[in-house]
Amino acid sequence: MSAASSTANANPKILIAAAGVDEQWKEAMVSRLPDAYIVTQHENYDPETINFTLLWKQPQGLLKSLTNLQAIFSLGAGVDHVLSAPSLPTDVPVIRLEDAGMADQMVQYHLYAALHFMRDFDIYARQQAKADWAQHDVARISKCRVGVMGLGALGAAVASALTQIGFAVSGWSRTMKAIDGITTYAGSETLREFLSQSDILICMLPRTAETEGVLNGKTLSHLPKDAAVINAARGAMIVEADLLRLLDTGHLRGAFLDVAVTEPLPESHPFWDHPKIRITPHIAAATRIEESVDQIAENIDRITRGETPRGLVDRKTGY
Ligand code: NDP
Ligand code: OXD
Repeated sequence: MSAASSTANANPKILIAAAGVDEQWKEAMVSRLPDAYIVTQHENYDPETINFTLLWKQPQGLLKSLTNLQAIFSLGAGVDHVLSAPSLPTDVPVIRLEDAGMADQMVQYHLYAALHFMRDFDIYARQQAKADWAQHDVARISKCRVGVMGLGALGAAVASALTQIGFAVSGWSRTMKAIDGITTYAGSETLREFLSQSDILICMLPRTAETEGVLNGKTLSHLPKDAAVINAARGAMIVEADLLRLLDTGHLRGAFLDVAVTEPLPESHPFWDHPKIRITPHIAAATRIEESVDQIAENIDRITRGETPRGLVDRKTGY
């Protein structure tokens, strides 16, 4: 039996609102669920007939018109863009993508960024600007301590990959985790200890009421002198002015950032030409459509059968 024909809910009515990429998602969903009624936000549809919606940066107020929803799917791993919608119904399940091809990409991004600091490529880039051929001792990778904040679908993959190439890795999460080769910490009471032994800090947390601003002047000061910060999660986790101050006063060595509080990063933002900051434009991990439509179709099946979908967001914790 083909994957498509195994779908129990033969006629779900699905609305796609995925800023700029509606048509790509529609094409993939139609080929995965040929019997479903699938429209994009730009077509004519009766909002009251829609049972499922797939969202990425949806227009404000859209959810208000969808009065018969059975589930809301985020087309990303993060759900902050859905949970912050003022018109979000309280009783409709919100479902996120789990990995969906993103873990491999996150691993690649963080291997590159961690090695950037461990092998002094930040220092050599500044030297190149001055035509300076000075050589520095190569640090031992096993002595370089990387702390990963968030050990979920993406953070755990990043932490494991860094361990495999020899970094000394620890991880911090809300509830205690056991991952081979990784020292784990859990809860806010362990944050200071976790930070104080992280030469390179990686943020892989979801944006929630608890994690917003978690990296601020006080917490960043708990990092060892000359520590580096990598953030490819959400800009809101870092207080940007505090990060800049700690870079400028010399407590922090550098930052590798894929995300910012305001995206696109405004042209006048001090991050752009800061000598200790590397910027990428929110490209660490792209949602892979093929893997995602499988997850979404399987979850529509589960919901139709009265089962709990995978990747169900807990409204209390916000992820
Ligand atoms: P998960 O929900 O799978 O994992 C979240 C992790 O964070 C869990 O380990 C969780 O702890 C931990 N956590 C949550 N709240 C707290 C807290 N208050 N204190 C300590 N730990 C906490 O998320 P993913 O790994 O799938 O994704 C992480 C984020 O990455 C996404 O939310 C998104 O914002 C970002 N992202 C960025 C992309 C990019 O291209 N830049 C692409 C994809 C995602 P516990 O295990 O105990 O539940
Ligand atoms: C996501 C993202 O959350 O791409 O998936 O940022």
